[in-house]
Amino acid sequence: MIVDGTSLAAISQAVRRLQQGQLVVLPTETVYGLAADARNPAAVEKIFRRKNRPASNPLIVHVADVAQLSQWAVAIPPVAYRLAERFWPGPMTLILPKAPEVSDIITAGQATIALRIPAHPVALNLLTAFGGGLAAPSANRFTQLSPTTASHVEQALGADLLIVDGGPAQVGIESTIIDCTAEPIKILRPGMLGCEAVSACVGYAVEYHTASEIKRPGAHWLHYAPKTPLIIQSAADILALSVTDVAVKCGFVVHTPEVARQLQQACLSVYVMPSEAEGFARGFYAALHGLDMASCQQIVVETLPATQSWYAVQERLAKAAAKK
Ligand code: TXA
Ligand code: MG
Repeated sequence: MIVDGTSLAAISQAVRRLQQGQLVVLPTETVYGLAADARNPAAVEKIFRRKNRPASNPLIVHVADVAQLSQWAVAIPPVAYRLAERFWPGPMTLILPKAPEVSDIITAGQATIALRIPAHPVALNLLTAFGGGLAAPSANRFTQLSPTTASHVEQALGADLLIVDGGPAQVGIESTIIDCTAEPIKILRPGMLGCEAVSACVGYAVEYHTASEIKRPGAHWLHYAPKTPLIIQSAADILALSVTDVAVKCGFVVHTPEVARQLQQACLSVYVMPSEAEGFARGFYAALHGLDMASCQQIVVETLPATQSWYAVQERLAKAAAKK
């Protein structure tokens, strides 16, 4: 059931369900989350079952303000507070040493915990009304596309869930995850909060972790995948496709106006995206969800620019294109 997140009655209903140990879908500015009371292990277990998520993949705990950090983490380094002050509420998750009383189910038995203050007003209202932490991964089944609207969640997880609607997610891809448990800090998952902004805040060049180093649990190649096979092609290759290919086989996600214009004459399933990274990220998952629904045989995404600002979107696209 989808309820309007701006209604007080909806927030009260969501809080009651969370207090009873039930799951609730929470809108955030990145993607929708499947939330449970982070102090209730039986409720948190339901998240894993509902998503079909392996127990080895730890969850992010969402809180309403920085004062609550010390309930979940210990030995919080000054750099974490600096980042928190600069970028929270916002699309950033910090990895910190966990407090002893935090359930191992949330952290998958690790000594660290992921924490985030989301920037969505409905999420903040719900967190404040609830008064505690909410464990919430993206509200999709394991390995499938993250949802950026309430109806994406309803299609993926079913109508019996209470889905608090906060409109289309404004960032559109998952938060930037930063490991603050060692200096120098590292970015474990890229997001729209980029490396340059993080570096400027902490005063040194922060790097993305590379595959050979410690992994982020659950960093899985099959993440973010639409059901329809997806390939990446250059503008020139797309323009060279035959009319039959275009009309019958394919749905398209493109950002070059000339490519868009040509395709729109031949094909109904064309998502024309903004040609800057922020706008593209905002609409990317929604485009893939839309093309999955349109039952085309193949999704073709136009090659993205290879610059810093596109890094996080590039990562999601590469995973969406990975062979099943
Ligand atoms: O934008 C977001 O982060 C969204 C919204 C709902 O907040 N949440 C989200 O959650 O993307 P999820 O579960 O789909 O991705 C969280 C990632 C997982 O890949 C997990 O491995 C990583 O966070 N993670 C959680 N706890 C961790 C820890 N202690 N150390 C390293 N990585 C951790
Ligand atoms: Mg996820």
